[in-house]
Amino acid sequence: MKIGKIDLNLPLILAPMAGVTDYPFRLLCKEQGAALVFSEFVSADGIIRENAKTLKMIKFTEFERPIGIQIFGDSPEVMAQAAKMVYNKFSPDIIDINYGCPVPKITKKGAGSAALKDLCLMDDITLAVVESVPEIPVTVKMRAGWDSSNIVIPKVANRLESAGIKAITLHPRTTKQSYSGKADWNLIRRLKEATNLPIIGNGDIKNPEDILRMFEKTNCDAVMIGRASLGNPWFFSQAKALLSGRPVPPTPPHLDKISYCIRHFNHMIDWHGEKRATDLIKKHFGWYIKGFDGASKVRQALVTSRNKETMLSILNSIS
Ligand SMILES: Cc1cc2nc3c(=O)[nH]c(=O)nc-3n(C[C@H](O)[C@H](O)[C@H](O)COP(=O)(O)O)c2cc1C
Repeated sequence: MKIGKIDLNLPLILAPMAGVTDYPFRLLCKEQGAALVFSEFVSADGIIRENAKTLKMIKFTEFERPIGIQIFGDSPEVMAQAAKMVYNKFSPDIIDINYGCPVPKITKKGAGSAALKDLCLMDDITLAVVESVPEIPVTVKMRAGWDSSNIVIPKVANRLESAGIKAITLHPRTTKQSYSGKADWNLIRRLKEATNLPIIGNGDIKNPEDILRMFEKTNCDAVMIGRASLGNPWFFSQAKALLSGRPVPPTPPHLDKISYCIRHFNHMIDWHGEKRATDLIKKHFGWYIKGFDGASKVRQALVTSRNKETMLSILNSIS
């Protein structure tokens, strides 16, 4: 699978996830076999204002390459300027445009999946971004349409291809659906049939076998995994084994998961500093610490802890 000149050694991609896919999480997924990782979505407005918090969200390490930085916004000019700045300052391998975010705070301003309601704006943003970073491939991640009466797949494929997009990721739900119902994998197949662009299938891959099912049902070129990786970065090593025809390693026992969680937390402390890390890790506790007797008590103790020492001593006491 190639995106522009970037050759992926496996068709396995970590989804962009706001508040989740920072460096520490991407590192763990990359170690386990994710062939391409994405930042969480980053505001184009924040980038051009050089907001320190926004720029921190873009930072990455060489180990993570190839990496895509995802940006969102409602103005072609601002999006183009932001893409150029990201390229000049950070030199990622891919710029990805977010046409999928269903969150009203974002779509009310005309960004994210709001572009699915205004395909001329989508054309303008896409062209402007592609022209601003001729050095690297620009990709798009999108939903199927604003609502079930306005599905834009597969008709947007040609427009995106002629604008110079190098791959499309489709999460085949509508904005109105948010996360309800099922991802309609038939739409991935229809998109694949309608274009020569590489298509990345996304949505509702819950276990490694689902990857094989998605390939078979849609003929997509790669798969993108989101929620199945939460508290579960070794999903990628299981998927990698399956795709390479090797026996799938078992999910690690709870004690190993807790050691992993400690490692994740330590990376977060190094990357974000203690204050932010102790906040950000709390959601990960919910994903790692489950499925054994007393898990909910441990989680409760962890999320009410105020500092890293208490959190680490709770984790160490059960590991
Ligand atoms: C916590 C969370 C944050 C997300 N943030 C983003 C984001 O920043 N950009 C984006 O394109 N999609 C985002 N998504 C959507 C995922 O990338 C993905 O499309 C969706 O979860 C469906 O895939 P899955 O069924 O494998 O989870 C987010 C999803 C979750 C659960």
